[in-house]
Amino acid sequence: MRKILITGGLGQIGSELTKKMRDIYGNDNVVMSDMQAKDTHKDLIESGPFEMLDVLDREKMGEIVDRYKIDTIVNLAAILSAVGEAKPQLCYDVNMNGLYNVLELAREKDLSVFTPSSIAVFGENTPKDKTPQDTIMRPGTMYGVTKVAGENLCDYYFNKFGVDTRGVRFPGLISNDTLPGGGTTDYAVHIYYEALKQKKYTSFIDKGTKMDMMYMPDALNAIVQLLEADPSRLRHRNAFNITAMSFDPEDMAHSIRKHIPEFKLDYDVDPVRQAIADSWPNSLDDSEARAQWDWNPEFLLDDMTADMLNSLRKKLNIQD
Ligand code: NAD
Ligand code: SER
Repeated sequence: MRKILITGGLGQIGSELTKKMRDIYGNDNVVMSDMQAKDTHKDLIESGPFEMLDVLDREKMGEIVDRYKIDTIVNLAAILSAVGEAKPQLCYDVNMNGLYNVLELAREKDLSVFTPSSIAVFGENTPKDKTPQDTIMRPGTMYGVTKVAGENLCDYYFNKFGVDTRGVRFPGLISNDTLPGGGTTDYAVHIYYEALKQKKYTSFIDKGTKMDMMYMPDALNAIVQLLEADPSRLRHRNAFNITAMSFDPEDMAHSIRKHIPEFKLDYDVDPVRQAIADSWPNSLDDSEARAQWDWNPEFLLDDMTADMLNSLRKKLNIQD
């Protein structure tokens, strides 16, 4: 049985991944950590071990690894694209130095590491449609720069030191537990909350802007599936393109109107996030992930919309 440390565990992915991993590996075998405890996640924090951990504190990370006999780190601590443009120094520190600390500990203590990358690794001159697994990567954001460097660093630790590093390039993730932490794709989560609360939404991303997206249950499956995949089949260990769907705000509105016919969508485009979105692919080619570790997402847009609206109605206590 693995003994797992999750960093950044109270974020959008970590809060749901912790639950899933505790179900699979046992509550005591999944140590969740973050910068500070949040009252909103009291039940999760109390369902297994929780540690306050800044990924920039390598000594404390090492002490936690030793104390719990950790053999796998899932490194989710990060600063995402929009916040990264507002705070580039912080983005660099957390995404680069935090990952470096994780990899150094992994090298010293023979740990496995999973670190998500992102569609943000691509840039203006990357092919936009069916973006290949191996292609031009010259991102225009600090977040993207740290993610490309992170992929390379993880490859280096595997090739040079034999550290078992793995990762995927996540598209925008949509979920109904924890709100996203300041990315460009966040509109695709906010739209569902506002559809239920106000029956209208003002999008900061313009119509016609297609980006790859995925529902959280598929993203969580991807992490566990790749962590447990047969290493002899993996040729792209740290940077698998994966996607489930590609859509623009109008496609989402169309899907929402199947449940809320009066839903209205308008636009107040944010130039910073729009420029980031414009530099990212319209759709990824994820055939290598499908071939090397049997990646196969379940949720498409309409299935996701039905599930999101159903779950959020319960969460927000909204009747119709
Ligand atoms: P998030 O912003 O929701 O959560 C990140 C967590 O990291 C937060 O809880 C924050 O408190 C914590 N954190 C920040 N600085 C820290 C530090 N110094 N030490 C410890 N913890 C710190 O992010 P997320 O959406 O859960 O993303 C997790 C990973 O997945 C990131 O690497 C991100 O780049 C990647 N990813 C996410 C998406 C997405 O749509 N959510 C898409 C592509 C890639
Ligand atoms: N959802 C993330 C962002 O928008 C993609 O990495 O930053």
